[in-house]
Amino acid sequence: MSSLRVAVLASGRGSNLQAIIDNINEGKLNVSLEVVVSDKKDAQALTRAAEQGVDNFWVNPKEYINKEAFETALINIIKQYKVDYLVLAGFMRIFSPHFIRNVGVPVLNIHPSLLPSFPGLHAQRQAIDYGVRYSGCTVHFIDEGVDSGPIILQAVVPVYSWDTEDTLAQRILQEEHLLYPRALQLLSEGKAICEGRKVKIIGEGENDE
Ligand code: GAR
Repeated sequence: MSSLRVAVLASGRGSNLQAIIDNINEGKLNVSLEVVVSDKKDAQALTRAAEQGVDNFWVNPKEYINKEAFETALINIIKQYKVDYLVLAGFMRIFSPHFIRNVGVPVLNIHPSLLPSFPGLHAQRQAIDYGVRYSGCTVHFIDEGVDSGPIILQAVVPVYSWDTEDTLAQRILQEEHLLYPRALQLLSEGKAICEGRKVKIIGEGENDE
């Protein structure tokens, strides 16, 4: 089976990108990483891409007259690589409907909460402030809302009374690094199918009692 071609957008550390790269290198993920693009010049994600010999670009938002022009620059790069999916891995900007309508491929995101709880910024802090006992992470398709698109996979972690934003973020991140490669592998096998608001997972629960 030919591998799924993906582009990644990332703003910072890029540990989710690294988890994807590691899974590809270990032969566990049938994905071809074509290009990594960042809105931050010194994003570690760009270094991680370069270390793998993957094309990588910094697109400076300040060089564009408005958000739409910046987003068009991103779209132009992504289109050159003829990818099947765009993967957001810690990309800390909210797209305009213009981007979603013109990017031409489905866009995936990972968010550090159990959506639809705690969308937007500082999801881990929101969970702690609310006092929930469980939080986690969500891989979902992007739609025109904020963190509101169809959910592919979620993973749950406990929230302890002594947690800080950092300790919870770290616990969630460990799950993120498992969840994003799993979601991508399901997509590459054609086993995650978006049907309107819901995502059907083929074979799900077959090994359960
Ligand atoms: C991850 O926790 C990801 O879920 C979050 O940013 C972090 C990026 O880490 N994304 C969002 O909050 C998007 N709204 P990374 O750069 O090490 O992958």
